[in-house]
Amino acid sequence: MNSVKVAIVGATGMVGRNFLKILSERDFPISQLYLFASARSAGSALEYRGKEYIVEELKEDSFDRGIDIALFSAGGGTSKKFAPFAAAKNCVVIDNSSAWRMDDNVPLVVPEVNPQEIKKHKGIIANPNCSTIQAVVALYPLHKAYGIKRIVYSTYQAVSGAGMSGVCDLENTLNGKEPTKFPKIIAGNCIPHIDVFLENGYTKEEEKMINETRKIMNAPNIKITATCVRVPVYVGHSESINIEFLNPFELNKVRDILSRAPGVIVADDPKQNVYPCPIDAAGTDEVYVGRVRRDESIPNGLNLWVVADNARKGAASNAVQIAELL
Ligand code: A2P
Repeated sequence: MNSVKVAIVGATGMVGRNFLKILSERDFPISQLYLFASARSAGSALEYRGKEYIVEELKEDSFDRGIDIALFSAGGGTSKKFAPFAAAKNCVVIDNSSAWRMDDNVPLVVPEVNPQEIKKHKGIIANPNCSTIQAVVALYPLHKAYGIKRIVYSTYQAVSGAGMSGVCDLENTLNGKEPTKFPKIIAGNCIPHIDVFLENGYTKEEEKMINETRKIMNAPNIKITATCVRVPVYVGHSESINIEFLNPFELNKVRDILSRAPGVIVADDPKQNVYPCPIDAAGTDEVYVGRVRRDESIPNGLNLWVVADNARKGAASNAVQIAELL
């Protein structure tokens, strides 16, 4: 791989810091690194591979210096406004926000599922929603084998999915303070409310999972419903996924397919208390699948429990994998 000029937008944030960690871990060939955030952080320093880099305020002309790839994770509004300025300067944006994901001209990519979409980009590639990434890594090989008819998602999502302020809200409410990020106290609680409510009673997070799953798997006809819940876990999203297939399956074959699927680790030995938990997934890039069992209430039904590190595979690692493929 040739060395490239890389920018990180939202470098001071939860995912931004993970971008730095993962670029370093994966020895990404960087010739120059630029770090951007809001005016609040301008002038502060972040370390990358033993060297200090000064954070700059993101501006419209920030990309006028031959930057090849920009990893964005600074919220939807920032991406909507600034990604086009980067793309206009031949800088390929890999955007972690929801701003561009459902745009027909923007590939929505999970490298284990649809890497071929990357080459269709017109300057912006979208990184999917964290809960969706881990789900499709597990579901796609099964969809190819048996055809998925319907999915029921129920998620248990970590506070780090809401960024640094989500983590602070858990810590503050554990210490008896009032919440400032989440709509209710998250300490000792579960909140069935992630992102805003829509007219139909779903949340936007639930709508993202539904629409993005169909787009990434190129399967517009799968019926999907979702309930997304914030839980007082620091890192690692967990998901109960109920699947109805078009075709019959053998449980052993399902385990075999999952154990050979790229990016998946099967952790499924209930008699030995082996099943994935977010604490075990934290700090890793794999998607863990356990509790693999038939849904005995319908002919071709399957239940899975799927866990991954939301800030890594759910965000930064997936984006860096896309950058490597570029
Ligand atoms: P800052 O630290 O200066 O506020 P998180 O997801 O952890 O909350 O982080 C969000 C990231 O997005 C931070 O790096 C934050 O920078 C950055 N950010 C927020 N608003 C803007 C903006 N208008 N322009 C550039 N970066 C922004």
